[in-house]
Amino acid sequence: MWWSIPLIAIIGLTFYGCPSQQNLSSSGDAAQKVYVAPGEHDEFYGMFSGGYSGQMPVYGLPSGRHLYTIPVFSQAPVNGYGYNEETKPMLMTSHGYIPWDDAHHPEGSQTDGELDGRWVFINANNTPRIARIDLTNFQTAEIIEIPNSAGNHASSFVTVNTEYVSAATRFSIPMDENLENMDVPISSYADNFKGTISFIKVGDEGEMSVDFQILVPGFNYDLSHAGKGPSEDWAFFTSYNSEQAHTLLERNASRNDKDFIAAINWRKAADLVAEGAGEDIPGEHYRNYMDHSEQRAKSELIETVRVLDPSEHPGIIYYLPTPKSPHGVDVDPTGRYIVAGGKLSSVLPVHSFEKIQQAIENEDYEGEIDGIPVLNYESIVQAEVENAGIGTLHTEFDGNGYAYTTAFISSEIVKWSLETFEVVDRIDTYYSPGHLMIPGGDTRNPDGKYLVALNKITKDRYLPTGPELFHSAQLIDISGDKMELLLDFPTDGEPHYAQGIRADLVIENQIKFYELEENNHPDVTKTEGDARVERDGNDVHVYITSIRSHFTPDNIEGVKVGDTVYFHLTNIEQDWDVPHGFAVMGAQTAELLVMPGETRTLVWNPKKVGVFPFYCTDFCSALHQEMQGYVRVSPEDSDVEISYRTGTQSE
Ligand code: CUA
Repeated sequence: MWWSIPLIAIIGLTFYGCPSQQNLSSSGDAAQKVYVAPGEHDEFYGMFSGGYSGQMPVYGLPSGRHLYTIPVFSQAPVNGYGYNEETKPMLMTSHGYIPWDDAHHPEGSQTDGELDGRWVFINANNTPRIARIDLTNFQTAEIIEIPNSAGNHASSFVTVNTEYVSAATRFSIPMDENLENMDVPISSYADNFKGTISFIKVGDEGEMSVDFQILVPGFNYDLSHAGKGPSEDWAFFTSYNSEQAHTLLERNASRNDKDFIAAINWRKAADLVAEGAGEDIPGEHYRNYMDHSEQRAKSELIETVRVLDPSEHPGIIYYLPTPKSPHGVDVDPTGRYIVAGGKLSSVLPVHSFEKIQQAIENEDYEGEIDGIPVLNYESIVQAEVENAGIGTLHTEFDGNGYAYTTAFISSEIVKWSLETFEVVDRIDTYYSPGHLMIPGGDTRNPDGKYLVALNKITKDRYLPTGPELFHSAQLIDISGDKMELLLDFPTDGEPHYAQGIRADLVIENQIKFYELEENNHPDVTKTEGDARVERDGNDVHVYITSIRSHFTPDNIEGVKVGDTVYFHLTNIEQDWDVPHGFAVMGAQTAELLVMPGETRTLVWNPKKVGVFPFYCTDFCSALHQEMQGYVRVSPEDSDVEISYRTGTQSE
């Protein structure tokens, strides 16, 4: 059988490439399982991180069809997100406007430990932020910056009732109440650098606020998952670089036999903060949110953040020794087991929540770091899964008593039993999986039908596209005893994690268009009769409407070189899937793509004298090519007055 190829051969294949033909398990049977007939819908939404695209591509599963890409942390020319005036504030940070980030881990909102289809959260790794996507319209509704953090990797994971989204620093940084003391030599790392683990409170409407941060030793905090069931008051964070190296980490941070999982009693910490514990320290950060009534994003600057020092608050954090530079940390559906992906470890350690509680009760410590008790490894480990592959990274669960772990180096997914902790099946992946995703696979109630391997290396899987290739996902049937590869599909950006959400949780709440009468944008134009052009000094405001297949007005004169022209376009259609686009020649920004009932603003600084066309960019009707207009731009000292019209032909 091909899945029993010896490990050494698998490694060989991984690094030297193998002809795709030899793993063609895709029989007619497999094709049938992923076939979604024309006009039919997929069973699951796959919400994938875009990695360095900064966006969230959405795929249908099991078909692997690319349905949509949600613009999140990066500008999106396709619809003007981050280019138009209404969405620019979404990308505001304490470093100024940032048009890009590296998005890693989407996580669906949960109620009682199950996906509820309201929101998906996703983190920005580079300039630490968390975004909340509203699944009624698949738009980014809010982005909050995380202060006192650098490399927001261990994010964005939710607690069982979405009370909190958590985040942690990958890169520790100098921390001091006095900002001038942040200017320190890098060699003073061990003395001055600290990490923070942040808990972002999520309100009933989804609104986010940084409730508190826990100050932790200057390790690198890598990944996280919240507990569930008996462990639901806890959250777990892997760390590496307990050596506190600040250079050549590949060697200097790989010395210790064990690093740690930080186990945090978030409920206890939150209760303490509610009672006034902790200290407010400087922590400038932006919260950006979409004002749905006004259809535009707004930004607010928050100056401080509440910080808890664990040495003053015993019982909120413990370190679980874990071999060796662990990466992923995953909690099984019962909430009893905490699985760490020891990327340099030969075994896969499984901690027992019950044993952790016992060890805490018995003060069964093997040491203490900065006031944080280190539990005794032997006392808390339930099992070490043997032969779970080389370079184990991440684990998800099927809800039927099995766990599935990715092994990056041996390029496989390994299925093991949560009862015997023995490997029961393994399947090759092409190539080198990072995360994996089972719909609901990190919740209390997984849908154990499909597994998606998110592979880091593509090589020969598709027609070559030069040196740069899309990444590759593989859909695997996990409904039987043996895993079966069903489908390869290319993915945009670098998908890290993903969430699979049952379509029926999402589709019933879909918004199809915006009600024009509920549009309270200050620059809305609700009827063609209200369309107009107004000059205000050097600013020209064009209040313009679109409906199949014309703009009102479509002839505009009196604009001058040196003016700033604001095209406030309202799409007055009230019909699903009839957006109009807008672009004007020489504009130094992207088009607008405006949904029915929506207002969007494009800013244009005309640099040349002449007559410049504008047109609809979205093929909206048979007469789409007729949907156009002209702006006359006169010299700076011209006395041409503002005028505008539609449908007035000269004799
Ligand atoms: Cu409106 Cu094309």
